[in-house]
Amino acid sequence: MENRENWGSKIGFIMAAAGSAVGLGNIWKFPYTAGSNGGGAFVIIYLVFVALIGFSVMLTEFAVGRRNNLAAVGAFKSVDKRWTFAGVLGVLSGFLIMGFYPVVGGWALAYVFKVFGGLLTAKEAIGDVFGGFITNPIQPLMWMLAYLLLNVIIVSKGISSGIEKAGKVLMPVLFAILILISVKGLTLPNAMEGVKFLFKPDFSKVTGATVLAALGQAFFSLSLGMGCMITYGSYLNKEENLAQNAAIVTAMDTGVALLAGLAMFPAMFSFGMEPAAGPGLVFVVVPSLFAEMGGAGMFFAALFFVALTVAALTSSVSLLEVVVAYLIDEKKFDRVKAVLVSASVMALMSILASLSLGGLGPTIFGKGAFDVFDLLTDKIFLAIGGMLLCIFAGWRLDKEELRAEITNEGKLQFGLFEFWYALVKYIIPVTVFLVAFSGIKSGFDSGVGGIMVLGVVIIGVFAAISKKL
Ligand code: PFF
Repeated sequence: MENRENWGSKIGFIMAAAGSAVGLGNIWKFPYTAGSNGGGAFVIIYLVFVALIGFSVMLTEFAVGRRNNLAAVGAFKSVDKRWTFAGVLGVLSGFLIMGFYPVVGGWALAYVFKVFGGLLTAKEAIGDVFGGFITNPIQPLMWMLAYLLLNVIIVSKGISSGIEKAGKVLMPVLFAILILISVKGLTLPNAMEGVKFLFKPDFSKVTGATVLAALGQAFFSLSLGMGCMITYGSYLNKEENLAQNAAIVTAMDTGVALLAGLAMFPAMFSFGMEPAAGPGLVFVVVPSLFAEMGGAGMFFAALFFVALTVAALTSSVSLLEVVVAYLIDEKKFDRVKAVLVSASVMALMSILASLSLGGLGPTIFGKGAFDVFDLLTDKIFLAIGGMLLCIFAGWRLDKEELRAEITNEGKLQFGLFEFWYALVKYIIPVTVFLVAFSGIKSGFDSGVGGIMVLGVVIIGVFAAISKKL
């Protein structure tokens, strides 16, 4: 593929990869998942998974992508046709995540306008406003479609011009606002309770479900397990230091998640809200916090939701890119057609997801589309996708080739190579298997086990028909 586009610069790549990683996963999902999984212990398990598994899988994705110079599916398929299914599974994950991500992206976009429409004056009723909004059958659909349209525009323009620019300009804005919110939150009375909740572990409450939630969160947040970073790696030039890039992206992503936690929990405890409040957390806590600040509060709240929308956008364009790159590389679509076809399917899925929050539409094992798409990807597909990639790299690829790729043909030092290789070959596959197994087992207590088993069956079917993919 001589004509494969390349990243304009190192900083451009890091911003785009970090832009993919940092998104709703950090600011919307991480706080409420930590909150509903008991806080500190979840956070510590999450951090251990990020450092050992997340970083290693990211490095593997970069290496495999750059080595083969092909996006997710091609990177597997060009080595061994029987592995095509692992790549296609990633494309399917991209589709499924884009079946609910634009719904939440649409909420963020809507909130920019709601803030100016007097949301902050609702005070105690800010939570009810959120509940009323997301369960409304029509309103959130409009915002979701507007959000998805932004994705279509960015991705149709192609990799370096669209994605890179968006990431470069808007990530620092987000970071600054999160710091501002954290500082404000930490000055409120009772704020230390929130800090304790977030960092003081109580391991007695940890179950298989908690550990799987932490693993799934690590994969989701770092954009791993579905070929996204393989695709990005394939655009990376040969002089870049892969391990260093993976470390920077992992650190930035984790930093933002922790910062988002620090922005939410002190304020929540100060307001006497429930840490297990669920998916509405950011949409309730942030406006409530800024409502205390008078006129300036409105400005900052709006800026926050602008930044959240942008963070979401730089992630969802990467999800869309995985599907688009597959259609371009494997099915010979042109870019615009690939974008339009995939975005149309994603729009239909997101409509189902949005309606399901108002109790409308079909259910599987008692769960609506939003929960099904989320559970399948976050709890099953990404982790198993990451596990498959590790098995592929550890057992199918050549160790010396991997060493050559990661050290730029011997020009760089990577002192942790043997440790990384052992993680990828043995430890990560076994760990993911055990965590998924115990997570599914405890999923049956909360009524989501059926959906998880369904996820495993889908993967099995893909593997079985792999030759036809
Ligand atoms: N990492 C993104 C987030 O935290 O919001 C979500 C995501 C993007 C997951 C791209 C997977 C992916 F391939």
